[in-house]
Amino acid sequence: MSEKPRILTGDTPTGQLHLGHWVGSLENRVALQDSYECYFLIANMHAFTTRVDKPDEIRRSTLEIVKDWIACGIDPERSTFVLQTEIPAIAELTWYLAMLLPFNRVMRNPTLKTELEDKGLGDNYSFGFPMYSVGQCADILIFRPKLVPVGEDQLAHIEPCREVARRFNQLYCGVDPHTEDADYEKAGGLFPIPEGKVGRVARLVGTDGKLKMSKSLNNAIFLTDEFKQIKKKLSGLYTGRVAMDEPGDINNSLFQYVRAFIRDEARVAELERRYAAGDNIGDGHIKVEVAEAIDALLAPMRERRAELAGEKGDEKVLEILREHTKKANAAAEETLYRAKQAMRLDFGRRELVFP
Ligand code: TRP
Repeated sequence: MSEKPRILTGDTPTGQLHLGHWVGSLENRVALQDSYECYFLIANMHAFTTRVDKPDEIRRSTLEIVKDWIACGIDPERSTFVLQTEIPAIAELTWYLAMLLPFNRVMRNPTLKTELEDKGLGDNYSFGFPMYSVGQCADILIFRPKLVPVGEDQLAHIEPCREVARRFNQLYCGVDPHTEDADYEKAGGLFPIPEGKVGRVARLVGTDGKLKMSKSLNNAIFLTDEFKQIKKKLSGLYTGRVAMDEPGDINNSLFQYVRAFIRDEARVAELERRYAAGDNIGDGHIKVEVAEAIDALLAPMRERRAELAGEKGDEKVLEILREHTKKANAAAEETLYRAKQAMRLDFGRRELVFP
């Protein structure tokens, strides 16, 4: 058994990952791999909440997201990938947690509401749609992590997860409701109260210079983009500035990119100083410099991804997923067993077989 505290986080396989995912969460995951026992979940069951009619596409995105992760530097030798649909304990725990969360609490989740609006679902959504937010509590708690590194929009899902963890611990493990969050395990609780951790840049603006970077808004730089595409996308970034000798606003969208991707602090300070002073430095020049910095970040990712290209790459990914499913199930089954014991549902211990 590993002594390290655990991390659980994940993504819904909706398509390609982009720079917003990188600065918001992926970068954190890569950095935390050595100090934590890491579980990274592919929420392929959740993908069905809005795409029941697209099983082929979901399967494809499932493999692609694993390729993106490995390309980013998530190491399958050190971290465990969790294929949601192959971990039955998650679905079971979802049921128990669903009964500890008031219906209105689930429906009040602002991220859920925004999603319904953005996707134009109105009143026409399945029962499974809001259910996924309860499922997300189970995704997390089944691995009993201390930390959940996520993008800012996901914090609204971490909150009910913390609430339901407290409630379970109080109801079934006899933990005093006045216990501090950090002390729940010490007080006999099964679940630690997990904390969300947002990345270095909580909300990266898209290349339209206005909205949050997102695949569906067509303003994303993908982790697979080449230098030319990166440059072209950035060239459209609107700042409103017209001349090189006009003082610029160093809080505009372009400078969000400067600070997010140029890692030489002295250079960033110099660019800020000259831009603010209107010291003969054009947006075009800065955009190329940002594009170069992004390209330097993405080049090794593109290389690692190329190694996983095509059917051979698919096979390799499937092999990793099968191996990791065993590890993930071992951890998840252990938690479920203990949860059921706490609930007086201890009618014997089962063993899962995954050939
Ligand atoms: N809802 C998350 C997203 O769409 C994906 C997700 C599912 C997740 N289960 C999770 C993230 C558990 C963190 C923890 O990005």
